[in-house]
Amino acid sequence: MTVRIEQLEPDDWRRWRDVRSRALALDPTAFACSAHRLGPRTPEDQWRERIASAEGIFLAVDDAGEDVGMVGLSTADAPELISMWVAPQARRHGVGHALVDAVVARAGRRPLSLRVMADNAAGIAFYAGCGFELVGREPDDEGTLTMRRDAPSAATAWPAPTERPPRPGAPRPGRSADQ
Ligand SMILES: CC(C)(COP(=O)(O)OP(=O)(O)OC[C@H]1O[C@@H](n2cnc3c(N)ncnc32)[C@H](O)[C@@H]1OP(=O)(O)O)[C@@H](O)C(=O)NCCC(=O)NCCS
Repeated sequence: MTVRIEQLEPDDWRRWRDVRSRALALDPTAFACSAHRLGPRTPEDQWRERIASAEGIFLAVDDAGEDVGMVGLSTADAPELISMWVAPQARRHGVGHALVDAVVARAGRRPLSLRVMADNAAGIAFYAGCGFELVGREPDDEGTLTMRRDAPSAATAWPAPTERPPRPGAPRPGRSADQ
């Protein structure tokens, strides 16, 4: 399966809402409670604000033009990979890796962290295969473990696929509420 990875702009908010709503409906236990706050009933302005304040929200689009996966890079100060999901029919074809690659490229030479539900063995195995390591074994109060991927050296840092200039007046990113 080949997919292209697209970075969303605020006007694309419906696409993210629809993919995210499918993710929460199909795999509710893969996401922490706080992640469920951004779901099908969230109003348009909040979707737009979340896209504008993230460093990047990316969707994977298949050959038929269907959105089959999502991921995000949350903050500038402490880059965090968030909202990782691939539609069931598209799994085990490299879509997840392609999405992580987009975030790794955007993060550049900064270390990346993420949170994963402690009982999500498949997710932890997937992230380990992407170069993330568990930071401790004690779940937080939402049941998540933190994984971290060290910054690549200058020689191996990947170029970002596209550069998006910061929007004037865009809110400064803070810690993500979702995972
Ligand atoms: C985890 C997830 C993102 C992986 O996406 P994917 O597109 O299948 O991943 P890729 O095809 O790029 O990589 C597959 C590799 O990841 C690992 N992996 C993926 N699913 C796995 C599973 N169920 N069990 C064990 N390892 C798994 C394996 O190493 C696998 O390689 P293999 O197919 O050669 O064995 C996807 O299964 C998913 O969306 N799960 C539900 C939501 C979720 O758990 N999100 C992450 C936590 S927030």
